[in-house]
Amino acid sequence: MTRRSVIAGVGSALPSRRVSNEELAQTVDTTDQWIVERTGIRSRYVAAEGETTATLATDAARRALEHAGLQATDIDLIVLATATPDQTFPSSATKVQAALGIDDCIAFDVHAVCTGFLYALAVADSMLRSGNATRALVIGAETFSRILDWEDRATCVLFGDGAGALVLSSEEGERGILATKLHADGRHNDLLFVDGGPSTTGTVGKLRMKGREVFRHAVVNLAGVLNEVLAEAGLTTAEVDWVVPHQANARILDATAKKLGLPPEKVVVTVGEHANTSAASVPLALDTAVKDGRIKRNDIVVLEAMGGGFTWGAAALRY
Ligand code: UT7
Repeated sequence: MTRRSVIAGVGSALPSRRVSNEELAQTVDTTDQWIVERTGIRSRYVAAEGETTATLATDAARRALEHAGLQATDIDLIVLATATPDQTFPSSATKVQAALGIDDCIAFDVHAVCTGFLYALAVADSMLRSGNATRALVIGAETFSRILDWEDRATCVLFGDGAGALVLSSEEGERGILATKLHADGRHNDLLFVDGGPSTTGTVGKLRMKGREVFRHAVVNLAGVLNEVLAEAGLTTAEVDWVVPHQANARILDATAKKLGLPPEKVVVTVGEHANTSAASVPLALDTAVKDGRIKRNDIVVLEAMGGGFTWGAAALRY
């Protein structure tokens, strides 16, 4: 029997405030029609004072533990993917650890922007398979509303806040993560970046993006990495039950599915409700499709994401 990292539970959390396109159009020079036609986004959630990356991550983690039927003290590893941590240091993972009442476990953040959750999942899977841990919380959590330029209509309408989490458990059997594939190409820093940081400006900075160029790279990179991960897992496209993609733009999801010959009804789409929540978007979408009964035990599920760096990656698993 092979030892694999099995998803024992999933959970998510959203800020209490939902902002529709119409509400946004009252303060930003945009329209509901433009946003829906170009992106598929209808609303996003925006963190209020007191709601932070770590508080959202903790709520999502609690729900994933409950779904798994486990206690916080069963966890020996926390990997949290975020580009918007509560503090420059310490890691938001250690804040989640303290909030959950875990006195001692491995806890750290992973930073790969929108691909962060795939990076976190691959790292946690490696640590579980090598015996460094047995039960992990893998979390993607973001408060991008705090790094948006609310005067730049080309970016501020696209993003939202939220968190998603899963419990990974090291078990023997056929279920679990079958393959992961990660990439980065640092030459594209100037297409998607934040114009500040502790070691440069000493400020947090604001998100800047050349959207059209990112779009072009996204479809090519995502189709490529999906083919790679399926080949590594020994799967054909026809064997895939569900694709849970990073939710940046409905047009990217359509174009990528088309390029791979995947029927659109196999793609989980939550971008309309959540907008782009960066590292939180894949686990938020996964939680949605598990809880509404679409994704069932033993289904073949493929996760994928692409973001700043550029970074991109995919994972194939038997749920
Ligand atoms: O998660 C990380 C990865 N990120 C992504 O994958 C994002 C990838 N990019 C995209 O999703 C799309 O490129 C966008 C949604 C960002 C933009 O869509 P687009 O079809 O590429 O539009 P565009 O940037 O070429 O802009 C078209 C027009 C421009 O006007 P002109 O120059 O043609 O007169 C923009 O000024 O739309 C205008 N525009 C807007 N109009 C109304 C830009 N933003 C807005 C807006 N409301 N919010």
